[in-house]
Amino acid sequence: MSKKRIAVLAGDGIGKEVMPEGVRVVDAAARKFGIDLQFDTFDWSSWDYCEKHGQYMPDNWKDLVGGHDAIFFGAVGWPEKIADHTSLWQSLLLFRRDFDQYINLRPARLMPGIIAPVVRRDGTPRQPGEIDMYIVRENTEGEYSAVGGRMFNGTEREIVMQETIMSRHGVDRVLKFAFELAQKRAKKHLTCATKSNGIAITMPYWDERFAEMARKYPGIKTDKFHIDILTAHFVQRPDFFDVVVATNLFGDILSDLGPACTGTIGIAPSANMNPDRTFPSLFEPVHGSAPDIYGKNIANPIGQIWAGAMMLDFLGHKDAHDAILSTIEKVLDPKSGAPKTPDIGGKASTTDLGKAIAAAL
Ligand code: NAI
Ligand code: MG
Repeated sequence: MSKKRIAVLAGDGIGKEVMPEGVRVVDAAARKFGIDLQFDTFDWSSWDYCEKHGQYMPDNWKDLVGGHDAIFFGAVGWPEKIADHTSLWQSLLLFRRDFDQYINLRPARLMPGIIAPVVRRDGTPRQPGEIDMYIVRENTEGEYSAVGGRMFNGTEREIVMQETIMSRHGVDRVLKFAFELAQKRAKKHLTCATKSNGIAITMPYWDERFAEMARKYPGIKTDKFHIDILTAHFVQRPDFFDVVVATNLFGDILSDLGPACTGTIGIAPSANMNPDRTFPSLFEPVHGSAPDIYGKNIANPIGQIWAGAMMLDFLGHKDAHDAILSTIEKVLDPKSGAPKTPDIGGKASTTDLGKAIAAAL
């Protein structure tokens, strides 16, 4: 198979600590499965770069990474020095928009050794594997549009508006992705997040396109819930869900809630994907730069490592993805005696845990 080029952008804070472990494990998997990978490391998309150059990324960032097969991303943000909306809009959000990464995909899976904050109805703890779902979020349009404005500022007549944009192209492509994903899963169950009772123009359209797409996938069991009760179900019976598809706003909320139901933020991964492969896709942990723990080498590297596994899957190496995931599960199992970082009840360092996973693989 041809060489795959990975652009590595560690970013800020603990991004710089977890990224080496992400690369270590992806590299170990590549050697095990005979995947030819080249890692190109860039120091931009960081406050360190911004401090010297006045912006988070160089003007020619698209030329520098646009030809890569994937972007392996750490975290951005250094709130002490720069406002979060500035750092985010100068980096991560540019990738999502300009590289048309229209799918945001997040798995939520309860891992061994992690205590889920949500228990069963009878009060007993949820067991590993009992929560195992994917949240598919539309990542380019919907409620997060720049169409709107503000008038009569500061007067009694002040008005603000911001429009939801749904295009048939945009809606259909995310629905198709979700149906295709559900097709590959054992349960073959897809849930549609909606709010067509209250948002009476765009959401009925979303439901209509969902129903239309469902006709092409007769093997998939489908259902739909309004977003309000859906969030309650996530907490009360997360085991019910398999794949959940949602618009940008609802997906944003569900893709934090889902992983939150499975324990620590330190292990959750996220993919910003351009399934058409016109542009590189970006793989990152869910967490941010965590300034409160940066510099101590205690951040959990599993979110970064799992994101690396999703990247290998996207590059056509499901075997490598599955091997990394089962290794993470083995290492997290309390019976393994493997090192754990403090967020999951241990005393080990970021490096110890990364090395343990690479070695076990
Ligand atoms: P955060 O995710 O960085 O941290 C939240 C809490 O979780 C902190 O107490 C932190 O210590 C802990 N935590 C996070 N990752 C961990 C890990 N791997 N292991 C152990 N504990 C971990 O979110 P916060 O504090 O709201 O934001 C900090 C900065 O990160 C801000 O500048 C924010 O804008 C940025 N951010 C960037 C994201 C990205 O690059 N995709 C996502 C979220 C936040
Ligand atoms: Mg969010």
